[in-house]
Amino acid sequence: MQITVVEHPLVQHKLALLREEDVSTNKFRLLTEELARLLAYEATRDLKLETKTIQGWCGAVEVQKIKGKKLTVVPILRAGLGMLNGVLDLVPSAKISVVGLARNEETLQPEPYFEKFVGKLDDRLALIIDPMLATGGSMVATIDMLKRKGCQQIKAIVMVAAPEGVKLVNERHPDVQIYAASLDSHLNEQGYIIPGLGDAGDKIFGTK
Ligand code: URA
Repeated sequence: MQITVVEHPLVQHKLALLREEDVSTNKFRLLTEELARLLAYEATRDLKLETKTIQGWCGAVEVQKIKGKKLTVVPILRAGLGMLNGVLDLVPSAKISVVGLARNEETLQPEPYFEKFVGKLDDRLALIIDPMLATGGSMVATIDMLKRKGCQQIKAIVMVAAPEGVKLVNERHPDVQIYAASLDSHLNEQGYIIPGLGDAGDKIFGTK
């Protein structure tokens, strides 16, 4: 399975608070950031290190630093923005690439209405962030776009995933690992994850 469900007690506790029906906008937003931070910690666990020699307080010392270009965080508009600050808390020097997708009502496929990628994607790890992996259509479209730009190392961080979305990402991009706080039961007829969180974008932005 290419999904890692992060079972850490703090992750599960925060997810439980997010699922409460009467959670306020403020609390939902804060918990989303906190959860994103913890999930990003797991997703960056295997970043490559290289040995460097620096001048320390008592002379030369060998240290381990992250190898290669700064990673890029890729929020999918709009709800992905809610996770951005949490991830940046961990990797403040990350570069940000942004993707906005809308459904084409004829083809029913997600199509980009906005994209702004950082340079040298072939040399960076991309961490796509979107709170809900539902059908997987937006995630697959975003991975397609990143790969077309030469990106070779991609991970997806979501708060809640549906099996349908995981299956689609797995089929189209088996090299992309998904990190989630939960793999939920299924999608309902309206495309909401059950039990899920409701509309994460509305809850983050207070537009419900
Ligand atoms: N997007 C959401 O915000 N919630 C879902 O349950 C599915 C997609």
